[in-house]
Amino acid sequence: MIQKIEEAAREAGRIILSAHGTDLGIENKEGHANFVTMYDRKVQDFLTARLREILPGAKFLGEENGMDVFAPGDDEGWLFVIDPIDGTTNFIHNMHPFVTSIGLMKDGKPYAGVVYAPVTDQMFSAVRGQGAYENGSRIHSSKASLADSILLSGSAGFSMNAFQIAQELTREFQSRSQGVRITGSAEYNLCMAASGRTGGYYEMRLGLWDFAAGGLILEEAGGRLTDYYGRPLSFRGPSSVLALSEGAARSELPDTGAYLDRWDGT
Ligand code: IPD
Ligand code: CA
Ligand code: CA
Repeated sequence: MIQKIEEAAREAGRIILSAHGTDLGIENKEGHANFVTMYDRKVQDFLTARLREILPGAKFLGEENGMDVFAPGDDEGWLFVIDPIDGTTNFIHNMHPFVTSIGLMKDGKPYAGVVYAPVTDQMFSAVRGQGAYENGSRIHSSKASLADSILLSGSAGFSMNAFQIAQELTREFQSRSQGVRITGSAEYNLCMAASGRTGGYYEMRLGLWDFAAGGLILEEAGGRLTDYYGRPLSFRGPSSVLALSEGAARSELPDTGAYLDRWDGT
């Protein structure tokens, strides 16, 4: 089944790359710098149809279908959690990374994850209990300390209060590591930690579709995934996300929970 899901993600990547040079049909969503394009919808429709063939009866939760938390019954049976294009703003500017992300939950728990970056042709995948892979090769998170690693972060432009707190936290992380970068794709960031390239990734608020696939890939690669308070993620809706490699010690971290407490929620 995982190969079939990977093939669907690859096909989605072809649709995304075919956008180059065409009218993307860009629309504004709620808030600052929050866009959706015709291609987000196209890819979501394509994936919904293809994945339904792969797993008839599965339910769907996707960024572009308006649901952002579990509906009653979503914790029973199969549920696909899809972000057709994670990194839409990058995609609009034709700048890597942007990825297609497909998480598959079974009875409310992450079961499989596929993240495909079409520009670099990188396919990340994992099935629970079976390890994580990049283009067919097993991957492991880094054993380097936080001090010897680079980190990734993100901050959607939802409010100035959120942005300011994120910046202050980044100043802390910057001084405790070899530097913080912002890529513009949460799922890609999780895969970078899973594949040993970075020491981790943090963001104050992500949708479930931003971490459903990459979160499992990271855990299967030996990394650790919690919220800013250090609690395991429920995988049922939006959350703060703190992703760490094996080598990054908790004692090296700032008090991320205290920063989250200062956020007014806007
Ligand atoms: C966004 C990206 C970005 C992160 C935002 C997400 P989208 O997803 O993952 O890196 O900072 O929080 O909303 O809108 O490009 O699918
Ligand atoms: Ca996203
Ligand atoms: Ca998206």
